Amino acid sequence: MTDQSRYTAVAKFLHWLIALIILIQIPFGFYMHNLEPSEFKFTLYQLHKSAGLIVLALALFRLYWRLTHPIPPLPAAMPNWQKIVARFTHVAFYVLIIGIPLTGWAMVSASTLGIDTKIFFLIPVPHLPVPQGEEQVEFWIEVHELLAKATIGLLVLHVGAALKHHFHDRDDILIRMLPERLQPRMAAKPTPQKDPAE
Ligand code: HEM
Ligand code: HEM
Repeated sequence: MTDQSRYTAVAKFLHWLIALIILIQIPFGFYMHNLEPSEFKFTLYQLHKSAGLIVLALALFRLYWRLTHPIPPLPAAMPNWQKIVARFTHVAFYVLIIGIPLTGWAMVSASTLGIDTKIFFLIPVPHLPVPQGEEQVEFWIEVHELLAKATIGLLVLHVGAALKHHFHDRDDILIRMLPERLQPRMAAKPTPQKDPAE
């Protein structure tokens, strides 16, 4: 039986691993895009594509896991509008962590330069069957960039909400997403109660 009162260790591991790679991939992508053509730039592109395709595989597995393992409910005291914003953000994140690598893959597949994609220079990845041409590549670059910027926007909202829950509302929203070993250390200290005898 799945325990519905907590996130599974797999869900937590995938959440933090994907978050970490995406937080590296976004500045990495902008940095490499602005470099002059060189062997170094080519290597960075290959590393960016490799890490991105790994995110795609992890995200698809995470989606499967999410659909087969219920997550804990949001606190009953949370206003409805906040619950709706939270759920919308989570669904949007799933779309983004799958959509960003897919648009990157479509971008390199649309290129007429015929550059192979090999995950970490080892595993060859076939191109997607998308129409090829300069305009198509430009289109996918635009969408890829737009989705990356949308991720940054949502992340501000998401992290802001997590910190508000932890430090202001003092509930367990942030704690329940942390590895079990960190939970006791991070648990909010109870607000000191006034001794009624005083
Ligand atoms: C975690 C997933 C990914 C994230 C967060 C991400 C993010 C980004 C960002 C922010 C840029 C810079 C956009 C710009 O300056 O226009 C970029 C560029 C690029 N990305 Fe990704 N990306 C991901 C996955 C992928 C994948 C899977 C591929 C291909 C298989 C890919 C291929 C590229 C290429 C070729 C560029 C350079 C475009 C150019 O220089 O014009 N990306 N990426
Ligand atoms: C790009 C990075 C991130 C993505 C894509 C992401 C995505 C998600 C998603 C989809 C969920 C919903 C749980 C699920 O259905 O699997 C979630 C929950 C959560 N995330 Fe993130 N997250 C990111 C970064 C962060 C960061 C940096 C923090 C740190 C403050 C954080 C804190 C949380 C917390 C506390 C929850 C639990 C919310 C709840 O229990 O309802 N996330 N995240």
